[in-house]
Amino acid sequence: MTRRSVRKFSTKPVNEKDVETVLKAGMQAPSANNNQPWHFIVLRSRQILDEIPKVHPYAAMVAEAPVAILVCGVPTEARTPAYVAVDCSAATENMLLAAHALGLGAVWVGIYPREERDAAFRKLIPIPDEIIPFALIPLGYPQEPPVQADRYRPERVHQEQW
Ligand SMILES: Cc1cc2nc3c(=O)[nH]c(=O)nc-3n(C[C@H](O)[C@H](O)[C@H](O)COP(=O)(O)O)c2cc1C
Repeated sequence: MTRRSVRKFSTKPVNEKDVETVLKAGMQAPSANNNQPWHFIVLRSRQILDEIPKVHPYAAMVAEAPVAILVCGVPTEARTPAYVAVDCSAATENMLLAAHALGLGAVWVGIYPREERDAAFRKLIPIPDEIIPFALIPLGYPQEPPVQADRYRPERVHQEQW
């Protein structure tokens, strides 16, 4: 209920253990057939992180983040490849929640299904052709605590029928 996107980070570094906890939460996500069709690339190189806002129109915050995790989909590891994006979405949300629980800030930077972003990330971070750069999660300590948003809309809930 209190998770929000965080796009302003302090300069405080994020330790390896917290990054690992976030990765564990991602890999704990539900997936179709329990395929777990994901790999993750941890990016700490300032040079790469600073390039990302130049190739993605809504990723300016990455230049401030001490670390970012590229969530990659692996259709070849899935018995049901049509679900890979859905599975990676579940992993991504788990990671955002884990980051929040650790007091970190994070945001889902969308890559899939935009072809131009896919191509740009492949240029920057070489990955095998069959791997899908799905989403980027910059991580850092929030400059200010996120403000809770109440989005519950009772009129969107139906009982027994639409
Ligand atoms: C598929 C997807 C793609 C997104 N892409 C971006 C993005 O490229 N840049 C960004 O700043 N936020 C991105 N977001 C974050 C949304 O803007 C954000 O979740 C939404 O405005 C709700 O705000 P909240 O996360 O604070 O609750 C994305 C979210 C999703 C689910």
